[in-house]
Amino acid sequence: MAEPIALLGGGAIGQLLAALLARQGVEPVIIGRPGTSREVREHQLTRLDGKRFRHRLCHLPPESMAACQALLVTTKAYQAEQALTPLLPRLCPQTPIVLLHNGMGPQQRLAQRHPDKQWWAGTLTDGALREAPCSVRHTGLGQRFAGPLGEGGTLPQGLAAIGFEMDRNIHLRLWQKLAVNALINPLTALHRCRNGELTRPEFLEPLTRLSQELVQVAASQGVVLDAAQVLALGLTVAEATAANRSSMLSDIEAQRKTEIEAISGYVVTVARSAGLEAPAHHDNLQQVLALEAQSLG
Ligand code: PAF
Repeated sequence: MAEPIALLGGGAIGQLLAALLARQGVEPVIIGRPGTSREVREHQLTRLDGKRFRHRLCHLPPESMAACQALLVTTKAYQAEQALTPLLPRLCPQTPIVLLHNGMGPQQRLAQRHPDKQWWAGTLTDGALREAPCSVRHTGLGQRFAGPLGEGGTLPQGLAAIGFEMDRNIHLRLWQKLAVNALINPLTALHRCRNGELTRPEFLEPLTRLSQELVQVAASQGVVLDAAQVLALGLTVAEATAANRSSMLSDIEAQRKTEIEAISGYVVTVARSAGLEAPAHHDNLQQVLALEAQSLG
């Protein structure tokens, strides 16, 4: 039998992927926090057609992690590095570690600090809502891509089974996803609005500035994007997810830390290192950090 796929992070996306894997006959295991105990829990997925799928899912503490065909990291961006630390010595050098969080920064830092590992990144645009600790609803069918941050490698079989496509230019896709998040997330958090409201005329100017700055910063890294296309992509996603609260707005409302540092913060850091300025992203970074400090009390 094929080795299981391990998931680090049991939030909505982690649970959705676990259920999709189980439906395809690929065993998922969830890696919990240090100090948690091994247990098997009953999980439920409400599918897009409303039908329910129930499965038993093994939760393991990091110290019990065994061989797996891939490790999928579905934590928040700011949790990824710390959560991975106890696992790295337990992973074979050939095992792909697929980072699926929003934003950028952890991917580059981890690949640099641990060059002996197989670092991959991925993006997925599915919507998922955690309705109870072990119950998740699939709210939108998305596209799923993964690819190695370095050379070579083949897409793990379990990922192909749940519709991930191999993307050898995953860097470009990460920048495109970063662009969508850097346009939508801070503005929805600052204006406390749903994604669709960003298509109103008063947001056109700030969204245009954010797109132009991001394209210049990406160019400094050899990534060619077009400002009009970035703006159009942001507006298309805002429209397609019009009724949704962005993850950043949800984090602010739930008084949680946000991923702003891996989103606007990443754009500002890269701009600085390239001798550029990104004032619109800088403003968003400062304002969301202030809002976050207020909400975290
Ligand atoms: O972070 C989010 O909320 C999502 O990535 C996106 C695409 C902005 C839609 O809400």
